[in-house]
Amino acid sequence: MAKKPAYKELEQRVKELEKEIARLKGAKEAIQKNESRLKEAEQLAQLGHWELDLVANILYWSDEIYRIFDLDPQKFGATYEAFLDTVHPDDRKLVNEAYKESVKSRTGYDIVHRLLLKDGTIKFVHEKCETIYGKDGKPLRSIGTVQNITKWKQEEHSFSGIIGRNAKMKELFATIREVTEVNIPTLIQGESGTGKELVAKAIHNEGPRANKAFVPVNCGALPEGLLESELFGHVKGAFTGALRDRKGRFEMARDGTLFLDEIVDMSKAVQVKLLRVLQDGKFERVGSEKTITADVRIISAANRDLKREVDRGNFRKDLYYRISVIPIHLPPLRKRKDDIPLLVDYFLEKASREGQNTGGISKDAIAVMIDYSWPGNVRELQSAIQYAIIKSKNQIIQPYHFPLELKGHKVEQHSRGPSRKLDAESVQDAITRCGGNKAKAARFLGVGRATLYRFLANYPDLLSSINESG
Ligand SMILES: Nc1ncnc2c1ncn2[C@@H]1O[C@H](COP(=O)(O)OP(=O)(O)OP(=O)(O)O)[C@@H](O)[C@H]1O
Ligand SMILES: [Mg+2]
Repeated sequence: MAKKPAYKELEQRVKELEKEIARLKGAKEAIQKNESRLKEAEQLAQLGHWELDLVANILYWSDEIYRIFDLDPQKFGATYEAFLDTVHPDDRKLVNEAYKESVKSRTGYDIVHRLLLKDGTIKFVHEKCETIYGKDGKPLRSIGTVQNITKWKQEEHSFSGIIGRNAKMKELFATIREVTEVNIPTLIQGESGTGKELVAKAIHNEGPRANKAFVPVNCGALPEGLLESELFGHVKGAFTGALRDRKGRFEMARDGTLFLDEIVDMSKAVQVKLLRVLQDGKFERVGSEKTITADVRIISAANRDLKREVDRGNFRKDLYYRISVIPIHLPPLRKRKDDIPLLVDYFLEKASREGQNTGGISKDAIAVMIDYSWPGNVRELQSAIQYAIIKSKNQIIQPYHFPLELKGHKVEQHSRGPSRKLDAESVQDAITRCGGNKAKAARFLGVGRATLYRFLANYPDLLSSINESG
């Protein structure tokens, strides 16, 4: 008899426990759901978080941090050393000091720096950190975020695959944006290897014709008769060897873009025919009387000054004005040396994306590249990097890994002068050579530190490119 209430009580207790288990299970599931949501959000934003317990000296990294650093969580414990090892060697001092200073001054930090991954990939990250202090004022723990901003950083200095941060390149990006929407004949001029074809493709790809054909014709590579049939097509029997009807490049480029490369070399006879197409959009295949019309965007390129060829009587003036409604001049690389480090990073990164391992590049090697005159422009720089990647065999690229023309090139020191006048180009050049160290740059330029600081105060753009204080 006495057992009954005890049994009931027990039964009641079991029910309560079951309820509690169900509640805990629900809570656990909710936590897991939140965790996986957080993970998804971190992955989407490419933003990882870390926490450093300064009392127990334990560092925690979220999965996304491992992903951004390209480290295997099974092989790498989260340590400050492993983190610093992943930071680009040129940025280590900046990162290390930013953290120490932030703990000391209780201000937290907010910086952008580079990572150099084991396979040579360079990433840009935005880091923020805050430290929490105990009642006694001692730091307890630091929490921070790391966001991969490589894509945004690259887009800031590039347009449709054209890399550049020099003012002339920024102007070029603006012009391309303006001309993409309207079909106006554009003439791109610049030395060999400056990126004329790249710009022509960008104009096509960024505009409404992007999903139509981009058809290049090298006007310098074909003899006169052949160029005409190449451009306008021919009918069977039009000339010996014309065994069947053939479409020309104009027809192939219908509703798309025709890129007339090396137009300086076009014969006078073909120039007349081209002028007619540009005037009324009409042409005939060689050997045919049937008139064809085609809506084609014309972009031309010349690596010699076309106006000079007009003055010399080698190129028709009327055609010149027709094809050059929008003239674009690409500066040679020696006139935009501030783009060299950016291009080097870009080509190294491209190589590593394509599966070639690279060990980064030394400051000395960059200095040699900045000093060299690059007669073959960006194409030559791209080849030099490819050559150096192979010669350096995964090690840091040094000047002796370069092709002969560059290797034999000695970096000249600027002469010191008491009243040397500063200009943005040489200041940027000096700062780049000196790895961002302002004191060294001032010495290099032969001016006092104060003079350089005064100059920089008026050039905030230059200042933002410096990541170390001298
Ligand atoms: N600003 C740039 N950013 C990235 N790559 C570039 C840039 N300029 C040129 N290149 C690269 O350099 C190489 C040469 O460029 P491109 O063929 O467009 O030059 P070009 O002016 O047409 O030369 P050429 O007169 O000899 O035909 C290409 O591989 C191109 O992708
Ligand atoms: Mg070309």
